[in-house]
Amino acid sequence: MCAERSAEDSMESPGNGIDMSSHVPVMADEVVDFFAGDLNEGLLVDGTAGAGGHLAMLSRALPGMSFLAVDRDPSAVEILRSRFSDNPDVIVRQGSYTEIPEIINELSLGKASAALFDLGLSSIQLDDPQRGFSYRYEGPLDMRFDDSKGEAAAELLNRISEKEIADIIYNYGEEGRSRRIAKAIAQNRPVSTTLELARIVNASVRRGSNKILSRVFQALRIAVNGELDQLNRLIDELNGWTEVDARIAFITFHSIEDRKIKLLFRDTAGYRQYSPRWVVPGEDEVRRNSRARSARLRMGIRT
Ligand SMILES: C[S@@+](CC[C@H](N)C(=O)[O-])C[C@H]1O[C@@H](n2cnc3c(N)ncnc32)[C@H](O)[C@@H]1O
Repeated sequence: MCAERSAEDSMESPGNGIDMSSHVPVMADEVVDFFAGDLNEGLLVDGTAGAGGHLAMLSRALPGMSFLAVDRDPSAVEILRSRFSDNPDVIVRQGSYTEIPEIINELSLGKASAALFDLGLSSIQLDDPQRGFSYRYEGPLDMRFDDSKGEAAAELLNRISEKEIADIIYNYGEEGRSRRIAKAIAQNRPVSTTLELARIVNASVRRGSNKILSRVFQALRIAVNGELDQLNRLIDELNGWTEVDARIAFITFHSIEDRKIKLLFRDTAGYRQYSPRWVVPGEDEVRRNSRARSARLRMGIRT
């Protein structure tokens, strides 16, 4: 049985000083409706569980299900462990969603009847200056979801060629002034903090704006975390650990990711699109939560 939780519980502090209300789950009602339509037993995997916002609602709406919560970020996992410590139906593991097959095996959980992936980063990560995700706060230019692995954004920027920087900004940020921005970054290396990078980017274009900074920071984050490689691997392996008829939902914030999911559900054997195939947040939600504005929820079924 699920532990009973009130609506307010979804915002409670887990006791580690982090304000849970700072991350509002995107299209939460739509996500719950999609999964709650059909499921009353089995395993639901939240592969990007973050602050547990979606998971808290799903665990209330789907008594009888078991839940596996995975996140790559050790501090998100700390929040999840604390938030669901009184819920025996929720198992929390740190790791990438590409490691889900091994985690399921190790825990003998069997195949999943449902899976959710809310891609990107949480407001808790974005608003922590020490993580280096935001151009609004001074902090080390890090941007790793798991800072025990790989190269921080500053190390990457200071190592690669001007052309590689331009390609990252163009391909992952869809920013047309990528060459000019890359040239300015290369000329001003080494770069080590968020605001240093923001100043260089703004000075390199005629009129700097938050939109340009958002694109550059998003592009770097995607590169630092190898997000598209991770997503490709997840897509390749998804049918190995989900059962036939499993419900699968992705929330994407970027057109490259979104296209991959569209192709997965529309054109890949073993999947079909759910109707509606995708949903965007309503005006009210976007007003309440500006992070939701570029989100798209795509839904599919394993066949
Ligand atoms: C938008 S947040 C999820 C928020 C969550 N749905 C909620 O309601 O609280 C995305 C999360 O995905 C995690 N993440 C990013 N890439 C990942 C990966 N490859 N594997 C697992 N988690 C990942 C991030 O650390 C972040 O916590």
